[in-house]
Amino acid sequence: MRLIEKETYQEASIAASQLLINLVTQEQDPVIGLATGSTPEGLYKQLVANYQAGNVSFTSVKTFNLDEYVGLGPEHPNSYYYYMAQKLFNQININQTQTHLPNGQAVDLASECKVYEHLIANAGGIDLQILGLGGNGHIGFNEPGTSFQSNTHVVQLDASTRAANARFFESEAAVPAQAITMGINTIMKSKEILLIVTGNGKAKALKQLLNQEKNEQFPASVLHEHGNVTIIADQAALSEMK
Ligand code: F6R
Repeated sequence: MRLIEKETYQEASIAASQLLINLVTQEQDPVIGLATGSTPEGLYKQLVANYQAGNVSFTSVKTFNLDEYVGLGPEHPNSYYYYMAQKLFNQININQTQTHLPNGQAVDLASECKVYEHLIANAGGIDLQILGLGGNGHIGFNEPGTSFQSNTHVVQLDASTRAANARFFESEAAVPAQAITMGINTIMKSKEILLIVTGNGKAKALKQLLNQEKNEQFPASVLHEHGNVTIIADQAALSEMK
């Protein structure tokens, strides 16, 4: 794993955007895996700014998001569909039919998971997967204990994850109990992975990741097995390392 240390969240976001823009500029039909949450908001702002400045075009880009809450539709302000539309897709020249998220409102969730996995495979796999890090080591919504062999599946969200995400909802009880997520195996099949870790709240998890051997109780530790992982971290997230 390659660790790039940046001073601030802003600098980490700029470094992440440069890596993504380089890929979009170099690859003919790039397939990018996207994350939601607080961490990549700065990255998406940078992508929008670069698009507006004429530095990058997204017309040939295909995207697959990591996850979506079960039960929340595209119009729900807390759905990841809505998040992506607001923060990125509606502000750049991406072909919206080439953007994909799991359908959290699918009647048959199991078959939705299979379809999603096939869509990724049919696109030729993911060239670059963006990840954030959960305080408990989760990646996507793969909570501690998730099999490293898992493909896209339905998960029960951990109490700690629901508590962490309650800040976006009216209350913790309003956070959906389930989500659809790419599995660990799905994520590991990506050709390249960019993990962004920022803020004091992630310092313990980042330290654990860097020192932890592969262990299903700390899902992100699987990344040690991948040959092409870059971690971009800010000083706040690195504070436990000093
Ligand atoms: C989001 C996702 C999650 C987040 C993680 C960190 O699509 O899959 O794994 O990346 O929970 O969230 P933030 O960035 O809000 O701290």
